[in-house]
Amino acid sequence: MLRPPETFATARLTARPPTVADAPEVFRAYASDPEVTRYLTWKAYVKLPPLEEFLKGREETWRTGAGHFAWLLRLRDNQEVVGSIGLSIERHHVVFGYVLGRKHWGRGLMAEPLRWLVDWSLAQPGIVRAWAFCDVENPSSARVMEKAGMQREGILRRWHVCPSIGPEPRDCIVCARVR
Ligand SMILES: CC(C)(COP(=O)(O)OP(=O)(O)OC[C@H]1O[C@@H](n2cnc3c(N)ncnc32)[C@H](O)[C@@H]1OP(=O)(O)O)[C@@H](O)C(=O)NCCC(=O)NCCS
Repeated sequence: MLRPPETFATARLTARPPTVADAPEVFRAYASDPEVTRYLTWKAYVKLPPLEEFLKGREETWRTGAGHFAWLLRLRDNQEVVGSIGLSIERHHVVFGYVLGRKHWGRGLMAEPLRWLVDWSLAQPGIVRAWAFCDVENPSSARVMEKAGMQREGILRRWHVCPSIGPEPRDCIVCARVR
């Protein structure tokens, strides 16, 4: 079974699997901010225990090799948690999700780990497509995908639900790099 590297580093960031012990820092850095989670498939956490449960699931993925692989992203400079990135491997393709704490937006940070993981994915035998989607009203995320070497492919209509906005499935921009 294909398994991504547990740790990697980019120019400004380090990435390693999150643990349940990271929950308070993750909560503070990004997971409790409704502005950050507006276009995500999960709502901002208001209490620690459900976040700890989520992180337990991510630990389990690294243990078993099945599920959504996630990394916590820290600044190399001072080890501060800035966000996270994750991927799921499905047959011949890899799909990504990512989030940054608000105070770190606009510095080009997320394109670094996304590009690293897209490169890694497409270097694996059998993986020919690295892709992600974002809400049509979240164009800065589509720009990050382009900066990571993906190309805009189109709109997936009525594809995902943003519970912070409402229950209706919403249109998404799809970007991908293929080989
Ligand atoms: C989306 C997110 C990951 C962006 O990461 P980031 O590292 O701050 O992004 P960048 O600093 O590279 O800046 C975004 C880019 O989008 C561009 N941009 C910003 N607003 C834009 C708009 N309305 N239309 C088009 N492009 C826009 C910026 O100009 C910049 O591109 P540039 O470097 O070519 O000038 C971050 O804002 C975030 O985590 N948001 C909350 C969670 C989220 O939405 N995750 C993605 C879910 S799909």
